[in-house]
Amino acid sequence: MKHVVEELEKRRANARLGGGQPRIDAQHKRGKLTARERIELLMDDGSFEEFDMFVEHRCTDFGMEKTKVPGDGVVTGWGTINGRVIYVIAKDFTVFGGSLSETHAKKMTKIQDMALKNRAPIIGLFDAGGARIQEGVDALGGYGEVFTRNVLASGVVPQISVIMGPCAGGDVYSPAMTDFIFMVKDTSYMFVTGPDVVKTVTNETVTAEELGGAKVHTTKSSIADKAYENDVEALLQMRRLMDFLPANNLDGVPVLPTRDPADRVEASLDTLIPDNPNKPYDIKELILKMVDEGDFFEIQEAYAKNIVVGFARMEGHTVGIVANQPMLLAGVLDSDASRKAARFVRFCDCFEIPIVTLVDVPGFLPGTAQEYGGLIKHGAKLLFAFAEATVPKVTVITRKAYGGAYDVMSSKHIRGDVNYAWPSAEIAVMGAKGAAEIIYRSELGDAEKIKARTDEYQRRFANPFVAAERGYIDEVIRPSATRQRVCRALNMLRNKTVENPWKKHDNIPL
Ligand code: HXC
Repeated sequence: MKHVVEELEKRRANARLGGGQPRIDAQHKRGKLTARERIELLMDDGSFEEFDMFVEHRCTDFGMEKTKVPGDGVVTGWGTINGRVIYVIAKDFTVFGGSLSETHAKKMTKIQDMALKNRAPIIGLFDAGGARIQEGVDALGGYGEVFTRNVLASGVVPQISVIMGPCAGGDVYSPAMTDFIFMVKDTSYMFVTGPDVVKTVTNETVTAEELGGAKVHTTKSSIADKAYENDVEALLQMRRLMDFLPANNLDGVPVLPTRDPADRVEASLDTLIPDNPNKPYDIKELILKMVDEGDFFEIQEAYAKNIVVGFARMEGHTVGIVANQPMLLAGVLDSDASRKAARFVRFCDCFEIPIVTLVDVPGFLPGTAQEYGGLIKHGAKLLFAFAEATVPKVTVITRKAYGGAYDVMSSKHIRGDVNYAWPSAEIAVMGAKGAAEIIYRSELGDAEKIKARTDEYQRRFANPFVAAERGYIDEVIRPSATRQRVCRALNMLRNKTVENPWKKHDNIPL
């Protein structure tokens, strides 16, 4: 018996070496950890159980039968993060560049099937060159199987992708169908085709960083939700993220004990809004002062900064925060901000995460650049997402809520459950000056008359009370009591049950 156990350990040790020590060293030299080292950091100590460690490819083309590596370029299995079950897929770049063969795909789909059957999240750690070129259609088919499961799992279990090396082909398309993508600065890249192919096809000379580095994807393309300094930081932040997320779409949000009292009064919020309505203030100050222990996990922090989205907790329960940011473009809604927030709202609604919306928005951004870029359709995405969401929705208007953007930002009219306003709220079709200049166009030559008309409009609408008189605002609240009021509202809404009419699925303006 002893010798078979020894043989097992020998085989395991060999499999753990993946593509061999020189390739492991090369991985380290590039500032990257190996697949197993990453899993070690991601999961609770000793909780990871690996599957299919001895799986090998079956390809016999291009002399492949001579190079077989146990595990075949991907480490899969399950373990726990802070005690909760998580499935993991970690690409091993040391084996054929982490590329996907028929058997490698089977390892992945086994994990995806288990995650779906057992309703637990999947985290993918990507560091791979897509379909294994030597396997041709077997690899393409394998990726098709992975993609199908990505789609079936979407909205059922959270799927998280972390890009930790150069990734191409299927290793970017599969992440693209998951809920969130995170990257590592300077060592990870995402592109459909790499710089060499770009050069051949378009004659464009571009570096991997310029084509698909973390900066490009967090600030320009918005493909990635956030970038971290190195592997360790990325993995530790994934542990933090998982604490905010439910295991699936039926379980409800995790509840973490908190020492932050729900009735904490934040006196400083009574002076957050500047006297001058055109002066900005930082909405993140309100977010950090409102949520449990100032703990906010921001998503897409570097993209469309005129809207802020992310996860936090209120009385220990996860919430999604959507907030206009007056510091950037006065918090205006443009195409990028609308798409960013719409996707986040839909994630929250999929997974029964209540949404707290903080509103200070001067409207939609006018101009040809926006109109040609499809503002109507992109803005409609956010309107659609908020309106279809059936999770508890609590809205606080802190200052401006102008025009269509008032409707869009989780207003009462699109099924906001509890709609508060601060006394500084201004709810109107547009700013007073613009309004006066349109309604009283014939008086435009007379500056004094226009000023008087502007003041009149300002007096009538630059407050929350017209909306409150009509019940569109449930209550005008003191800014300092925001945490208390939002916690109470969320508590009251805990058992909210609303069903949309049956349909196969909706047709959100994509
Ligand atoms: C087989 C691959 C491979 C692949 C890399 N390798 N990609 N082997 N199939 N797809 C191997 C290399 O031959 C090399 O082996 C090792 O992995 C490391 O690769 P390098 O090129 O040396 O590394 P690096 O310079 O860092 O470049 C990484 C890379 C590049 C950017 C990923 O390798 C690359 O562009 N690969 C091809 C990407 C690609 O076109 N994939 C097909 C996509 S199609 P040795 O033995 O020398 O160490 C696809 C279809 C899905 O995925 C459908 C989408 C809708």
